[in-house]
Amino acid sequence: MVQFNFSGDVVMFEIEGHLGVRDNHLFIGGVDAVDLVGEYGSPLFVTNEERLRENYRRYQRAFPDTDVYYAAKANGNLTILRILAEEGAGADVFSGGELYMALLAGISSDRILFNGNSKTDQELRYALQTGVRVSVDSLDELKTLASFARETGKVAEIAFRVNPDISPKTHPKIATGLSTSKFGIPYTQVIEAYDTAKRIEGVKPVGIHCHIGSQIIELTPFVETVNRMMDLVEQIDRLGVKLEFLDLGSGLGIPYKKDEHVPTPEDLADAILPVWSERSDAIGVHPRMILEPGRYITGDTTVLLTRVNLVKEAHKRFVGVDAGFNLMIRQAMYGAYHHVLLANKADLPPMGLYTIAGPICESGDILAHDRELPPVEKDDIIAVLDVGAYGFSMSSQYNGRPRAAEILISHGRPYVIREHETVCDLLAKQTLPPHLL
Ligand code: LLP
Repeated sequence: MVQFNFSGDVVMFEIEGHLGVRDNHLFIGGVDAVDLVGEYGSPLFVTNEERLRENYRRYQRAFPDTDVYYAAKANGNLTILRILAEEGAGADVFSGGELYMALLAGISSDRILFNGNSKTDQELRYALQTGVRVSVDSLDELKTLASFARETGKVAEIAFRVNPDISPKTHPKIATGLSTSKFGIPYTQVIEAYDTAKRIEGVKPVGIHCHIGSQIIELTPFVETVNRMMDLVEQIDRLGVKLEFLDLGSGLGIPYKKDEHVPTPEDLADAILPVWSERSDAIGVHPRMILEPGRYITGDTTVLLTRVNLVKEAHKRFVGVDAGFNLMIRQAMYGAYHHVLLANKADLPPMGLYTIAGPICESGDILAHDRELPPVEKDDIIAVLDVGAYGFSMSSQYNGRPRAAEILISHGRPYVIREHETVCDLLAKQTLPPHLL
């Protein structure tokens, strides 16, 4: 059994918040990352509970009168959801699976919004059964939901997901409120949608919802969103529909590059709260604000540790590691930057440029391009930072690779919150037809 080194009062060089360096090793929440790999193997996702709680509290403090619904898609691990439930978070869920997990974690159904642009009949029935509110994405979905509600003698409380036609100035694949995007009711059809909903038995419109995108690092799109949505709130009020909430979605970015200037939750609050108050006072309607942060809450809480299999001198110097886009797809999918460092040589000066390549059979399987690192050798441990949002939750078993374990660090102690998968998990649910037995 490995002895874990706790930081205690020993002074560590701080990299960012909960990460530090001592004796040349990376420490996460006071625990030596190299010891963790020794104990639990590689690759490994390591999450710091204190950081998670701090992030949630900071966000909620910036928006004291707002319901914060954590976006479970960012990281849907039961332990993460449970911690956030303890903190008082609600949840934005985008599937029956996320709804199931959020309820299991202890988030009450009256603090959950069921989102989704293409929900199955089964998911709509599950929403009715659990009594959560539904963000309806089309009139077709409204009809189906209303008919299921009538069948079961229920009334579904709904919002419409609005497509506000706003550019969030982010990566095109994560811009969700452009008029060309697949999400929501087109802005010009929203009033008609509420007019229809108020007449249909089985549904009751109580809110309005939008989400313009993710990893947004400018404030103006958020301000524009408040204004566009308040314009709708005013017109909907005139229809005689009383909206209890206006859910602005989320999208606040985080600084993946350490010198990057990214607005904080306080900056976001300073930008939108005055506009919100001014507009709602002017129209005399005061819906409750809901926000659905995902990335801000979990993004920087987690580090991916991955062992070096080999170093290869080719047209450039490649480091082959045991985690690829099967575990962390953000670089391959969005060209996203994640900071990397050597967990076992964290104090050494950089010596050259290295490209960190995963083991997947695709040229795009690169975790980091051309990074300055100390000399890298076989069996070193690379740490990929800020992988707590859209890391594990977007992982797969591609190339026959079992998924990695997840560890939670709580008060300087590690807990396994998800075990490593094995080849048995690759076989799970597969069956051979009789003629091939
Ligand atoms: N609400 C809704 C309806 C959403 O669709 C999303 C994210 C969120 C809230 C949370 O947004 P956040 O606070 O995390 O920006 N896989 C991509 C991000 C996809 C975001 C999808 N929707 C990435 O790795 O960058």
